[in-house]
Amino acid sequence: MFESQIYVYRRAQLRKNMGSGLILLPGNVDAAFNYPANQYHFRQDSTFLYYFGLDHTGLAGVIDLDSGHDWIFGNNVDMDDIIWMGVLPSIAELSTKVGVTHTAPYADLDKMIAKALSQGREIHVTPPYRGETILELERLVKIPAAGLKAKSSISLIKAVVAQRSIKDQHEIIEIEKAVDTACLMHTTAMKMAMPGTWEQEIAGTIEGIALAHGGPVSFPVILSMNGQTLHNHDHSQILQPGRMMVVDAGCETSLHYASDLTRTVPVGLKFNSRQKAVYEAVLQANLKAIAAIKPGIFYKDVHLLAARAMVDALKEIGLMKGSPHDAVAAGAHALFFPHGLGHMMGLDVHDMENLGQIYVGYDDEIQPASQFGLAFLRLARRLQPGFVLTVEPGCYFIPALIDQWKAEGQHTGFINYAEVEKYKDFGGIRIEDDVLVTKTGYKVLGKAVPKTVAEVECLR
Ligand code: GLY
Ligand code: MN
Repeated sequence: MFESQIYVYRRAQLRKNMGSGLILLPGNVDAAFNYPANQYHFRQDSTFLYYFGLDHTGLAGVIDLDSGHDWIFGNNVDMDDIIWMGVLPSIAELSTKVGVTHTAPYADLDKMIAKALSQGREIHVTPPYRGETILELERLVKIPAAGLKAKSSISLIKAVVAQRSIKDQHEIIEIEKAVDTACLMHTTAMKMAMPGTWEQEIAGTIEGIALAHGGPVSFPVILSMNGQTLHNHDHSQILQPGRMMVVDAGCETSLHYASDLTRTVPVGLKFNSRQKAVYEAVLQANLKAIAAIKPGIFYKDVHLLAARAMVDALKEIGLMKGSPHDAVAAGAHALFFPHGLGHMMGLDVHDMENLGQIYVGYDDEIQPASQFGLAFLRLARRLQPGFVLTVEPGCYFIPALIDQWKAEGQHTGFINYAEVEKYKDFGGIRIEDDVLVTKTGYKVLGKAVPKTVAEVECLR
């Protein structure tokens, strides 16, 4: 974890942005895998980690906005725990590492919350996303599970998002470590992308790299020749010449900061002319989007700029026609690029998504669009120095979507369906980098992963 004063400072900042009452931040508990004693590797809740730092099961943090005290509730390990899991410092000892001096057994949390409720004090909670936490909050704050999301504290959500959106220098160092590990994962995957190799062998190898560097992966590895399926977790194919392999993968550091990179390479690391042309279209979108990043720009505008860059190139190939500006305004590009340009990244790979995308990616100035494609944009608001975000344009040939749009006669002024038909066996391409917004522009985080056609082909 970081130095204790970082957590003290973060909680003090949060207090400044909040009114009165209690902030209750439940940590995560162990979750059963296939029977109760066989559990998933523990992952702490990111907001708990941000303010209370402790990476252990069964804890809850309380920030008392009125008394000014911070509490950690949790039980010291007993002899059974010591026998099976080893010795752990006491909750009081652990809590001093994050600057908390008020600690109590977990059962005392019930009493504190019950008393606060009886006094009519406000209990601020964020929307729970795990079944165990939903049940625990239902029990503690006496709100039925189905109502917890609606009753979560908007002021707390907004205050947490405002703080966690701006990464400090310590966080950026962690994120760069995660990107550096992802660089190794991706260059390893690229070098393994040879005809006859089983996708699973590559997926397993790169997941192993994440684990060997602190890990785990920041989301299940996406790796497939069938890259037209955006989040393809099926790794059952044997790589074939003439196809491309999409790898979208990242890891967490031991402090749980994430990386998220995507590279797409031709099997055998030699592009044919068709692959090269589509790859260049996505690469131009990636490069132009990154170059446009600076404080004050709406990320929605960066998304649209990337889409226009791609349409420009798809026109050259003969897949699209007409004015790129008008095509993007109409949403015609979304046949090929049906997702958003990127998302915030930090302690979560889609940072703070559990708090609500509307608060993370949007604000009073900009609300979500309803147009197909643009509606999936996770981050649209103006960028600020300290934001870390992904830039991940993609171009996909999704046969079912092509068939549907063609049958419906959608955007026939912009899409050359006769040409598109020939690409139904192509798959997809995505190129993703992790970028910090600086005071004057941007910084692409971490070591460079081969990205141009020449750099990829050089790996052979
Ligand atoms: N890397 C997966 C995603 O951003 O959704
Ligand atoms: Mn991503």
